[in-house]
Amino acid sequence: MACTVVAGAFWGDEGKGKIISYLALKDKVDVCIRTGSVNAAHTIHFKGKRYALHMVPSTFVYDKCRLLIGPGANIHVPQFLKEVAQTDVEGRIGIDRQASIITQQHSGIDRSNGHLKSLGTTEWGVGPAVQERAKRSAKLAKDIPELKQFLVDVAGEANAAIDLNKTVILEGTQGLMLSLYHGSYPYVTSRDTSAAAICSESGVGPSRVDTIMVVFKAFITRVGAGDLPGELPKDEAIRRGWFETAAGTGRNRRSAPFNFDLAQRVAKIHGATEAAVTKLDVLFPSCKNATSYDQLPKEAKDFLVKIEKAAQVPVTLVGTGPGALDIIDRRD
Ligand code: IMP
Ligand code: MG
Repeated sequence: MACTVVAGAFWGDEGKGKIISYLALKDKVDVCIRTGSVNAAHTIHFKGKRYALHMVPSTFVYDKCRLLIGPGANIHVPQFLKEVAQTDVEGRIGIDRQASIITQQHSGIDRSNGHLKSLGTTEWGVGPAVQERAKRSAKLAKDIPELKQFLVDVAGEANAAIDLNKTVILEGTQGLMLSLYHGSYPYVTSRDTSAAAICSESGVGPSRVDTIMVVFKAFITRVGAGDLPGELPKDEAIRRGWFETAAGTGRNRRSAPFNFDLAQRVAKIHGATEAAVTKLDVLFPSCKNATSYDQLPKEAKDFLVKIEKAAQVPVTLVGTGPGALDIIDRRD
């Protein structure tokens, strides 16, 4: 797979953490670069434990993987240090010197500013932190003594790994419909979340990427304000087993059925070459823990084919349960 970008399809929470943790273990990923900021939580179930990580790359489950946070990211120092301890990755994680810093002060602005409140942000302060960076007044990782031991050149390391034909993942956060440019503005996050932007934030040029994996969930969820086409009432979402709460903020997630027209658009803009579909077992309970395509009922197969037709790429990974290894892998 060489260099793979993993990018979210819709409004985030598609299960990128699960897909990436699977790839880490299965493909023995050498290097992973996480993009974005502390607003995103990637959930990983591994060895009986559940992690909701805001900073540490989801490949930490493979203990030989080099973990990096790119120059386009914002670092929340206390959260970073807490997760490094929780995942025990101190000796193998690096932060780019030019990643910027997000603080309690930024979070305070998210909480008190009427406009930002009306968007239903995660209240981590990512918008205000990005604003400071755009003004060229942000603190960078290299300005923080507690981060000294972690500072590296992420673009340099990533490109050196690609030169050596190592297996590299660029870990996207959120989904295309939360992109500052392509999403449902103004109800979006403060950065572009497209595959191209994931490359840019990491310092890896698009021609160096071999696979762009768009991650869909079998139904759609959204937290915060803004339109959600086909949104279900909460009691109907509960009845269908689609009701979720956010891994990071604990807020209720709104839900809607899968949107094939939107799938076509997001796959195109990401430039996807493959797709993953998570939580197939929530839509079709008889798929729970299936590990081969043949085990799926016809209606589940038909659903995957319909996604392939819309997105115009093969569905190569299918999630059938929360564990990192609850997956159907059709890549070869
Ligand atoms: P912010 O990114 O915290 O400024 O929030 C802006 C919008 O993006 C809100 O609707 C958030 O709920 C949404 N958002 C930000 N990060 C995530 C995420 O990781 N998953 C889902 N929604 C997110
Ligand atoms: Mg999440």
